[in-house]
Amino acid sequence: TNGRPVLRYMKALPVSEVCLSCHGPVDGLDADLRRTLSGHYPNDRATGYAKGQIRGALTVKRPL
Ligand code: HEC
Repeated sequence: TNGRPVLRYMKALPVSEVCLSCHGPVDGLDADLRRTLSGHYPNDRATGYAKGQIRGALTVKRPL
């Protein structure tokens, strides 16, 4: 970065069981939770995921 060496660590962010209560298939979400989520996040498209899918990654950069 800008001519200087950096160490970048990256770790996959998989969907686990606990994530499915909010990011699983919409039909399977608790009705109260679905109402609350859609109140706060009307444009939420982060549903319909299955356990084991990769949602992204966490990354940390440190100058060496
Ligand atoms: C209690 C509900 C809840 C749980 C459980 C939950 N999330 Fe989320 N998550 C949210 C909400 C709400 C947002 C924000 C949605 C938005 O900004 O539209 C979000 C956003 C995200 C985002 C960024 C936006 C996107 O969809 O790309 C990622 C990635 C994410 N969650 C991954 C996870 C993972 C992985 C787990 C399990 C380890 C998890 N979440 C568990 C409610 C939850």
